[in-house]
Amino acid sequence: MSEATKRHREETRAPVLAARNVVRRFGGLVAVNDVSFDVRAGEILGLIGPNGAGKTTMFDVLAGSILPTSGEIFLNGARVSGEAAHLRIGRGLGRTFQIPRPLPNLTLIENIMLAAQGQAGEKLLANFVTPWRVATQERAARTKALELLELVTLTHLAHEPARVLSGGQRKLLELARVMMADPAIILLDEPAAGVNASLLEVIIDRIRDINARGITFLLIEHNIDMVTRLCHRVLVMASGQLLSEGTAEEVARDPRVIEAYLGGAA
Ligand SMILES: Nc1ncnc2c1ncn2[C@@H]1O[C@H](COP(=O)(O)OP(=O)(O)O)[C@@H](O)[C@H]1O
Ligand SMILES: [Mg+2]
Repeated sequence: MSEATKRHREETRAPVLAARNVVRRFGGLVAVNDVSFDVRAGEILGLIGPNGAGKTTMFDVLAGSILPTSGEIFLNGARVSGEAAHLRIGRGLGRTFQIPRPLPNLTLIENIMLAAQGQAGEKLLANFVTPWRVATQERAARTKALELLELVTLTHLAHEPARVLSGGQRKLLELARVMMADPAIILLDEPAAGVNASLLEVIIDRIRDINARGITFLLIEHNIDMVTRLCHRVLVMASGQLLSEGTAEEVARDPRVIEAYLGGAA
């Protein structure tokens, strides 16, 4: 067991994000069936499982892009189950998409700065009343965007249009975009999918660095090597239910997990 795993096992801080008895139906199909778990402050928690297990649905319920049929979601102790996704962003929940779609003709800087909107610059009245404040905020946002581009190793492309980016670089830009809102927790949707091996190493390093700044992660990923290297704990879902929980090594040994993958339970 790694030092990081031991440390996280010993710590019992309040959960950043919690699911309680979450059920989500689509018509007659129960995509998520009575799932409860905590995401602890500071950890990188993995969520794995065969296709159709209900991972993406769980993720959507956590982020607020869909509502649960029943059950509750708590974000930093507040019950947010019925709250819209943008309000959860305001509460410190960031989310990346499996297929990031930056605006192709805007530069990387501009793409990231879009994420900082919702501040005074967006409010028409504020532009008339306090233009100095708007200008100050824009300067601060630009500085922060440049810092985040440096964090994700994309500084050299800051003023290039986003269309020049490879798939892996888009995932890095997506990380920077999410960081702009100062999230306490980031939900990552398959950050390794479609990424070449060398850029994957960069993404793993960046996630570690961002985690070292105190940001919590929940990570859906099929790349087991990445999960094993990054995640302090792993949850396994199959057929809508939580099947197993433990370190990557522990869940890999769990006969129920082996059965779910071999049996193609979905
Ligand atoms: N919008 C939807 N409408 C109907 N069924 C859905 C919808 N989204 C997901 N499902 C079904 O819910 C189950 C879980 O899907 P999903 O959460 O995408 O699983 P995973 O991400 O683990 O592969 C699957 O049977 C899937 O077909
Ligand atoms: Mg999915």
